[in-house]
Amino acid sequence: MLVDDLKRVQADTFALYAKAHYYHWNVEGPDFAQYHEFLGKLYDELFDAVDVLAEEVRALDAYAPAAHRMLMDLTKIKDDNTVPNALEMMRRLLADNEVVMEGLVQAYMSADAAGELGLANLLQDRLDVHKKHAWMLRSIVR
Ligand SMILES: [Fe+2]
Repeated sequence: MLVDDLKRVQADTFALYAKAHYYHWNVEGPDFAQYHEFLGKLYDELFDAVDVLAEEVRALDAYAPAAHRMLMDLTKIKDDNTVPNALEMMRRLLADNEVVMEGLVQAYMSADAAGELGLANLLQDRLDVHKKHAWMLRSIVR
């Protein structure tokens, strides 16, 4: 169902946001400054997207999930409470970004089938943004 798919996208995006922010604080190594800045831009982009997605849930006349726990129940992305090295952080973000993209494809197909073309368009735009996140993360880990 469209609204459930959209809530999943909101939750996936939030989970990726939270992990990027966590790594932004805790990354270490000789390239700390670059990683810190890269992760700062990433979590900013994702945080803004969470708000847009939650408002789309409201536009479908459902209530947006809010509490961290509620969101974490809706996503397959796992919280990380370890501090891996910088490259492993990037690998984990890349894998989680793939999960976000899978959810976006599903939600896009539901939006399209429901004739929610504006929302479908927004989800396409999100897919494009996440494709760029994937490119950058992939380029770092190679
Ligand atoms: Fe910061």
